[in-house]
Amino acid sequence: MPDRRLPLLAASIETWFDRNARPLPWRSSYDPYRVWVSEVMLQQTRMDVVLRYYDRFVARFPDVGALAAAAPDDVLAAWSGLGYYRRARMLHDGARDVVSRFGGSLPQTVAELSSIAGIGRYTAGAIASIAFGQRAPIVDGNVARVAARIFAFDDPVGSPQLMRRAWTAAAELVEQSASPRRLNQGLMELGALICTPAQPRCEACPVERLCSARLLGTSSAFPLPRASRTATAMRVPIYLVSDVEGRVLLRRHEGELMTGLYHLPHGVADLLGVEPLEVAGTSFRGSFRHTITHRRVEFEVYAAILRDRIGEGGGEWTWLAPASIASVPHPSYVAKALRLAR
Ligand code: ADE
Repeated sequence: MPDRRLPLLAASIETWFDRNARPLPWRSSYDPYRVWVSEVMLQQTRMDVVLRYYDRFVARFPDVGALAAAAPDDVLAAWSGLGYYRRARMLHDGARDVVSRFGGSLPQTVAELSSIAGIGRYTAGAIASIAFGQRAPIVDGNVARVAARIFAFDDPVGSPQLMRRAWTAAAELVEQSASPRRLNQGLMELGALICTPAQPRCEACPVERLCSARLLGTSSAFPLPRASRTATAMRVPIYLVSDVEGRVLLRRHEGELMTGLYHLPHGVADLLGVEPLEVAGTSFRGSFRHTITHRRVEFEVYAAILRDRIGEGGGEWTWLAPASIASVPHPSYVAKALRLAR
């Protein structure tokens, strides 16, 4: 049976959003392409980081056609620093799909949007509701947490059970909304600004009196903690091998993770699944921590001398002047290592 709180919840969240929405760049026009880019960037990258790259990306590729026509390397280069590079390739593939099947304009329905390469349930719902005002639900981690608290869903964070219940709740809420665009963004904004994972600001929440977790006096106990799983930590030596002209050895990697990007050679195989480089003399230059996808890595940077000629296989090797590395697509740990060694 639908919850009797739903109409008031939807109205309160929409009104709160009108008054509290952050002035984000894609909120000035709600252009579908710009909304799409923002949602893909925000899926695995924090807002403050996205805001440092977003304007440059959409200035470089102002519409679906421009993105579709771009060279893959240019798209990757513009994505450099955002991480999870598979997203850049999926966005690019998606843009080409939109050009070939929809004449370059994003379609409006979840069904059609979901048929586009790389667009899943969340992104389809976000574009349909935020750009086109369709009555489509969306659930990300923020919305799942907000729903878990309002409805006291007692499932672990990130669990399929919680996600299923959150999607149902989000669908019921959007059915009741005056504006799906405002409701869905309001749910996400509430999760980002008020209903935060730790120490939620319940006193400032527009639905405080409607929230089950608040009524129970245990807002931050929802969603329940995940069954513990230790984050993978690993140590990875990376090598700065220079030639007589001061150029640095890089490897263009082809594989599952961060494919097509230029990497510094590693001393272990497990991070990217490529063969380690054999080096002779090494001298330690420092270390730093960095998270790649879901692995916490301690990178140890060494200046190194090649033991042998570079063999065949294991990717495409290139010598590049340090100043020109900025113009090829590379993951951000490479820039960190070069800064550290300088
Ligand atoms: N996080 C992901 N998408 C968002 C959006 N449209 N508004 C606010 N936060 C978000």
